[in-house]
Amino acid sequence: MTEKIALYPGSFDPMTNGHLDIVRRCALVFDRIEVAVAHNPSKEPLFTPEERAQIIRDSTTDIENLTVSHFDGLTVRYARKINARYLIRGLRAISDFESEIQMAMLNRELDPGIETFFVVPDARYSYISSSMVKQLYIAGGPIADLLPPPALKMVEERLERRIAPEQ
Ligand code: COA
Repeated sequence: MTEKIALYPGSFDPMTNGHLDIVRRCALVFDRIEVAVAHNPSKEPLFTPEERAQIIRDSTTDIENLTVSHFDGLTVRYARKINARYLIRGLRAISDFESEIQMAMLNRELDPGIETFFVVPDARYSYISSSMVKQLYIAGGPIADLLPPPALKMVEERLERRIAPEQ
């Protein structure tokens, strides 16, 4: 039987507990998950692709069937390269739906042999995004419950708090 390999692409700048929740759910379903940091030219990331991949590796050491990488170019082409037939995307709220459907359709047009699967994260993470967590940190808000410890450490090292947290 062929191994069911799923690719979970994203910018992961950095990985949040919402992404981790998706990864854990998928690790129970697929034989192997490859989490891959994608280069998105329309974003200005805080961390390099290598740093983002390392944060993911350090945050998922307990998940055996998971590998981490980064890539440039088309997601479906990268999926083929690593023999993944499935793409994972998280659906946090209805607001994600339109762009995600568009992306899934486009990816199907590009490669009909690759199937997109949508996974819903725990409700606790339905409102978070990487940018929101970074903004919250800069503004002095609490983010420890929103990031895995390796991501939290990197954010604390890289970003300056403009407003001191309330005691
Ligand atoms: N928990 C927390 N946050 C989540 C989340 C979850 N479960 N799921 C998504 N998000 C957030 C991310 O943190 C990110 O937040 P940010 O914008 O504040 O950084 C946001 O939702 C977007 O998510 P992401 O999955 O990283 O999407 P993206 O738009 O950055 O990247 C790619 C999408 C890389 C998969 C897509 O652009 C792509 O495939 N690019 C390659 C080129 C290509 O093939 N193009 C054709 C297809 S469009």
